[in-house]
Amino acid sequence: MTATLITDIGELTTNVGPEPLHDAAVLIEHGLITWVGQSADAPTPPGGFTEVDADGRAVIPGFVDSHSHIVFGGDRAAEFEARMAGEKYAAGGIRSTVAATRAATDEELRARMHGFVAEMLAQGTTTIEIKSGYGLDVQTEARLVRLAAEVTEEVTFLGAHVVPAEYADRGDEYVDLVIGDMLDACAPYAKWIDVFCETGAFTVAQSRRVLEAGIARGLRPRVHASQLGPGEGVQLAIELGAASVDHGTYLTDADVAELAASDTVLTLLPGVEFSTRHPYPDARRLIDAGVTVALACDTNPGSSFTSSMPFCIALAVREMGMTSAEAVRAATAGGAAALRRTDIGVIAPGMRADLVLLNAPSIVHLAYRPGVPLVSKVWKDGVAVR
Ligand code: NIG
Ligand code: FE
Repeated sequence: MTATLITDIGELTTNVGPEPLHDAAVLIEHGLITWVGQSADAPTPPGGFTEVDADGRAVIPGFVDSHSHIVFGGDRAAEFEARMAGEKYAAGGIRSTVAATRAATDEELRARMHGFVAEMLAQGTTTIEIKSGYGLDVQTEARLVRLAAEVTEEVTFLGAHVVPAEYADRGDEYVDLVIGDMLDACAPYAKWIDVFCETGAFTVAQSRRVLEAGIARGLRPRVHASQLGPGEGVQLAIELGAASVDHGTYLTDADVAELAASDTVLTLLPGVEFSTRHPYPDARRLIDAGVTVALACDTNPGSSFTSSMPFCIALAVREMGMTSAEAVRAATAGGAAALRRTDIGVIAPGMRADLVLLNAPSIVHLAYRPGVPLVSKVWKDGVAVR
């Protein structure tokens, strides 16, 4: 693989210090970043190399989208349309996607998943976490984690997404299945265990059983909590050492204080508030309290059918009180922290060469020019994929 030298970068967000570099250059060799500094001091790599002139534009780390559900069948456009006309979002909508997912072939699910991965890459996302959770029976959940593992190492088993229709009013029995045969079938393909701890999904006691069983099998915990109302899911996540607790739309002051004192990341998913008309969480309150925040798309057919990190950044800046720098950091280094990854999310020697060249002089344009495709070039492991 030949080296790539990106020169004349007007604004380079490295996530190393608080400020970006200007007039910068980055050298990529063998899939890794090997040098970062002033353009004028850029080394000439031995052998052939490709030079890319950024022409004064901005470069950032590739986005790390630490929360998605992109293996599913069907869509829920009619549900979205009804919501825009005043209907409320409820967790139960998940069941209609379960029916469509069970009916889909592996080929159909795989083709769809690859389509989402491609559209995410085109928007600058170089690392994706993918959850199961639209199968909710042993065979289909195993298909979903197996398919997800074809495109990412960040696979999450979410058999406890909602209680399926055939277990209505038998939630505890369904949890027995999740932590029994379903976990047996899914654990070999997954790195993470997740549960939707919320009214209409799983209680704190049920969530604890799911997470503890997953941990005992070597999976690492992450939790969906406080999306639709306040609850005890955040505290459970922290107690069990979860890498991340996701949503956090309704956090109590105690939740915020406990998050700040923990190393659990709070992953904000503003596409959900956009699509469900719930209030946007106050990211300013979290950051000022010292909570580590990540920003992710939560791509799924129910609550957030966007795959665009730039769109989520625009929402975070416009609606959640984040600066552009905080939003980009949350969408890169924050996502890496939420996945406990130390090889991505930062532009520094030794890190994987996952980078995005924006067709803009500054990251401010991501929110300033919402909806405009500003991702000009993407490198994944040093390869120009776009
Ligand atoms: O992250 N919170 C639970 N699960 C998804 C929603 C899934 C759906 O509505 O289909 C989420 O928002
Ligand atoms: Fe989710």
